[in-house]
Amino acid sequence: MSVPAQPVFDPARQLSSRANAADEGAIIRMAQKSRELRAKGRDVVALTVGEPDFDTPENIRDAAKAALDQGFTHYSPVAGIPELREAIARKLKAENGLPYPASGVVLANGTKQAIANAILSVIGPGDEVIILAPYWVSYEATVRLAGGTPVVLTSSVGEDYKVPAARIAAAVTPRSKLIIVNSPCNPTGAVWTRAELEAIAAIVSAHPNLMVLADEIYEYILFDGEMVSFGSLPGMLARTITLNGFAKGFAMTGWRLGYAAAAEPIAKAMGRMQSIVSAGANSFVQRAAIAALEGPRDDVVTMREAYRRRRDLVIAGLRAIPGLKIGSIPGTFYAFPDVSAFLGNAAGNTRIASSDELCDWLLEEHNVATVPGSAFGAPNSIRLSFAASEDDIKKALTRIASGLSMLG
Ligand SMILES: Cc1ncc(COP(=O)(O)O)c(C=O)c1O
Repeated sequence: MSVPAQPVFDPARQLSSRANAADEGAIIRMAQKSRELRAKGRDVVALTVGEPDFDTPENIRDAAKAALDQGFTHYSPVAGIPELREAIARKLKAENGLPYPASGVVLANGTKQAIANAILSVIGPGDEVIILAPYWVSYEATVRLAGGTPVVLTSSVGEDYKVPAARIAAAVTPRSKLIIVNSPCNPTGAVWTRAELEAIAAIVSAHPNLMVLADEIYEYILFDGEMVSFGSLPGMLARTITLNGFAKGFAMTGWRLGYAAAAEPIAKAMGRMQSIVSAGANSFVQRAAIAALEGPRDDVVTMREAYRRRRDLVIAGLRAIPGLKIGSIPGTFYAFPDVSAFLGNAAGNTRIASSDELCDWLLEEHNVATVPGSAFGAPNSIRLSFAASEDDIKKALTRIASGLSMLG
């Protein structure tokens, strides 16, 4: 008896359109490429990943060890352990002028997850989200994952990478639900002033369904100017989902802990989203986070001052390169020079048409890894992370300068 032929199973055909549309992202791709070149023995300087090169401060590590030794290794409540939610509520009120109750705070496994919880809670098909470019990569991807429509507004280095309020106002429609504001901003290092944020608050106030997602994860890496939390502006607390986390300021990237704070119905919804995908955040890491918030901050200040010295080095180095356009960098550990003067030029037989090609060429021919601005909705720029040693930064600047000088 003949057996009927079975249809061939192809796992690749199983992928959802959502999975097919998801890109691993240029940052990961460039970081991976530089690791591969290093493995082949090449002396590559990587300024790709936005990750502090410092170890987590000792008091935080000690608190995690103590929690582990005390058996604090079980599931956490979905929204987080009450002591940490209260510590965060105290911090937000005292440092940021944000009087959210502890019940409005939802911990997550990284700020990335907090962003997903927030966007999935308020955005669905038909909803528009205004994203101010250059923007951090995850916002647009997460809005799409939620079925929402990203409305990307661009700004240039000449505008200090801040979209003027009039352009934001003109983009608002009855379907607009959220404006994402990231200050200090990854990838540009821009910091929004109180007056600029007040202009956004005026737009929000005029529309009954509009809210702001304020990503303040770089608040402690601020060199110049004032940290203004959007939700602290008059009438804006209930209109703001505030995001923050431990990765950047406390050098805790691998610990995976972030949070969102919002009006109670939204906080409850964020908890429901999180309960579907991951239950609560890491329990013993939450104990360590209390130590981070309530312990000494000397290490946070020391790290910030190290970033400030590197910022000065990077700005001086980039300003010395003819054709490159760079503004000020009041916060974060990123520089985002505009490289449009070099695009379309050639070095020998190699013509560089885009910032993607420029980054590939700088890596392959000059051993310095950066990230193309196209990943951040700004294809005329490249991003350099200066969360790297001063020696590496100097080496990278020399290589970039010599590379770009060949692009005549
Ligand atoms: C602006 C911004 N928000 C959020 C995150 C995510 O932080 P976490 O490591 O806590 O998920 C990053 C990380 O690069 C970031 O740059």
